Amino acid sequence: MALFFYSLVFAAVALATAKDGGSDGAASNHGPQPDPHQFIAAKPTDLRAPCPGLNTLANHGYLPRTGRNITVPMIIQASLDGFNAGVDAIQPFAKFGLLSSNDPTTMNLDDLKLHGLIEHDASLSRLDAALGDSLHFNEQQFSTLANSNPGVDYYNTTSAGHVQRDLLAQSIRLNPTQTNSPKEFKIRTRESAFYLSVLGDPLTGIAPKKFVQIFFREERLPIQEGWKKPKTLITAATLGALQTVIVANANWTATQACETEILGPALTL
Ligand code: HEM
Ligand SMILES: *[C@@H]1O[C@H](CO)[C@@H](O)[C@H](O)[C@H]1NC(C)=O
Ligand SMILES: *[C@@H]1O[C@H](CO)[C@@H](O)[C@H](O)[C@H]1NC(C)=O
Ligand SMILES: *[C@@H]1O[C@H](CO)[C@@H](O)[C@H](O)[C@H]1NC(C)=O
Repeated sequence: MALFFYSLVFAAVALATAKDGGSDGAASNHGPQPDPHQFIAAKPTDLRAPCPGLNTLANHGYLPRTGRNITVPMIIQASLDGFNAGVDAIQPFAKFGLLSSNDPTTMNLDDLKLHGLIEHDASLSRLDAALGDSLHFNEQQFSTLANSNPGVDYYNTTSAGHVQRDLLAQSIRLNPTQTNSPKEFKIRTRESAFYLSVLGDPLTGIAPKKFVQIFFREERLPIQEGWKKPKTLITAATLGALQTVIVANANWTATQACETEILGPALTL
């Protein structure tokens, strides 16, 4: 009886030692840790935005993959971790976006489709709200950007300005309720500075076409294709410098003054 008892204890100790001992044993018992930032496409129950940037952060787990209950500080931290975008570049957009939600402190990503807040006509990859689905990626709409800057394998501030010019002309042609005030133009050219910076170089504004296309089409960081998070912090100043060149290449004139202020889903001024 006593012998049996001691054998049991010995066996248990031996087992525990084997488990905790070598690193090989530990690895085979627990397996490799899954990367918390691996790409996982959104499930049908997950919510996404009209913004490829926020969607990519959610698809890589920098933001909640559900796309729900997202705060301004969460967006600021996710943008820094995922894109090396600093607080002064992100905070104004994030605070503005919070107005799209009925909750005082959180938003769901699909709240951001609220037309006239940030969401605007003449987008790079979404239809005008009056013409169709302004929330999800649209390959036809994206073809203007996809086919821009022919002959080279990168987009830059010149091509980004030309794309803005051409998409605005298309939107004015197709959409009888088109809105093109200084506000939309500022937001649109800022967003173009964003994709050149995140997928390319925040100082030169040169971004490989392949990376930009994967970002828009799949809302995925093209890590396996060779993309690396920018070493240069993306700031309001770096975005502004690129935006100035994009603006200069967009041949823009307002077709109307600033419109009604949207202050929430059920409040305009
Ligand atoms: C984190 C860095 C971000 C990047 C790289 C980024 C990038 C972009 C780009 C490239 C677009 C243009 C999409 C298109 O025209 O088809 C866009 C649109 C948009 N972004 Fe972001 N964005 C970022 C952060 C934010 C934040 C913080 C908000 C607000 C909370 C936001 C809200 C929007 C909205 C509502 C649109 C739709 C505009 C439209 O096309 O009508 N974005 N973003
Ligand atoms: C998210 O917000 C909803 C509605 O405000 C709330 O019912 C829910 O409990 C929240 N979920 C989490 C995980 O905080
Ligand atoms: C962008 O690329 C095109 C095509 O190579 C080139 O003509 C243009 O000068 C470039 N723009 C900038 C700002 O370098
Ligand atoms: C630039 O804008 C002017 C005035 O809106 C227009 O007449 C001209 O055709 C435009 N140029 C290009 C290249 O789009």
